[in-house]
Amino acid sequence: MRAGRELISADDIAAKIASMGAEITADYQGRDLLMVAVLKGAFIVMADLARAIDLPVEFDFMAVSSYGAATQTSGVVRILKDLDQEIAERDVLIVEDIIDSGLTLNYLIKSLRVRRPASLEVAALLVKQDIQSVPIDVKYTGFTIGPEFVIGYGLDYAGKYRNVPYIGVLDEHER
Ligand code: IMP
Ligand code: MG
Repeated sequence: MRAGRELISADDIAAKIASMGAEITADYQGRDLLMVAVLKGAFIVMADLARAIDLPVEFDFMAVSSYGAATQTSGVVRILKDLDQEIAERDVLIVEDIIDSGLTLNYLIKSLRVRRPASLEVAALLVKQDIQSVPIDVKYTGFTIGPEFVIGYGLDYAGKYRNVPYIGVLDEHER
């Protein structure tokens, strides 16, 4: 479906995902890569990025919800669905749709690090510029965007618009 003003086209996303996939393929040669996506938003990035990686990867998923007010992440995260497998000694790559304050991811990284993976890196399609209240080391970044609220390609507004094939900014009447 179409909604809002297009900010990043489906073609530009596909090209970026292809180059991120090539970089990850080169970096993880001969290693045992486990991709971990954070539901629900990252499911589309995960599906496309995984198919752009030419390695026998495994997947797992986590679901989290943040406590506190709806509009601002508090940084205290409740794990609704944990990983199905142990990650000790595994090369883990967290796949995210968007990093805003970074609080959610910061919490996740801390809770995964204590499980002693061999490595733990982050791939994010979108990073909001100058918003991170905690610095996150994102190894693979797709696009850096401004502070506007975006939808599409997995990202929602009130649960909707995840199926928009591009990244868009909603018009007033759509919110
Ligand atoms: P953070 O903890 O502030 O980094 O929040 C990250 C999460 O908030 C993302 O995984 C998204 O689910 C959501 N989020 C942040 N910014 C946007 C946006 O512009 N559109 C849709 N969801 C967003
Ligand atoms: Mg998310």
